[in-house]
Amino acid sequence: TTTAFAFVLAAYLIGSLSFAVIVSKAMGMADPRSYGSGNPGATNVLRTGKKLAAALTLLGDGVKGWVAVALASWLGPRYGLGEQGIALCALAVLFGHMWPVFFGFKGGKGVATAVGILFGINPWLALAALATWLFMAFVVKISSLSAIIACVLVPVYAFFILGPQSVYFGTCIIIAIVVVHRHKSNLIKLMTGKEDKIGNKGDAG
Ligand code: G3P
Repeated sequence: TTTAFAFVLAAYLIGSLSFAVIVSKAMGMADPRSYGSGNPGATNVLRTGKKLAAALTLLGDGVKGWVAVALASWLGPRYGLGEQGIALCALAVLFGHMWPVFFGFKGGKGVATAVGILFGINPWLALAALATWLFMAFVVKISSLSAIIACVLVPVYAFFILGPQSVYFGTCIIIAIVVVHRHKSNLIKLMTGKEDKIGNKGDAG
């Protein structure tokens, strides 16, 4: 329907707001796609040593995921948007982040945005994923590895918290697959021992 299309488009446009690029520009820093891993995300912004910029990136990219899902679930039903439509919005905001129309379709890996999306779907699910990421980050001190492990566990958490019948269970599986897939270069670096610790300057690629 037209309504569903409007909501999905809005979610995609919200996702396209790459906060790594926006915050860096606003703070007079280089485009995060030009250094480190080249990824426009909080982890890479932190490689500059600017903690505030990294925190704002994390917050902005996370909140936009939540906003897109919250908007669809609060306003949507008034316009006949069902759970499937809301689930599509959840994917659209993530795709917007990964392929932003405003920034030459060169977006991020979706970790912060996925956590925001999960908050919109179910706060307990988001907290479980976030706690996993934080715990792993504390233990291994590698952002990408922590994200990959948290991603793999998201469908497991979703199975128990949402149940396998939930539309959002399927959404969580897709999110996990897409976000892990975006970490291909990180997986190679992890396997060759070239991935860097959080806050360290990384190699390009
Ligand atoms: O948030 C993305 C993170 O998991 C990896 O980022 O810059 O190390 O490739 P990066």
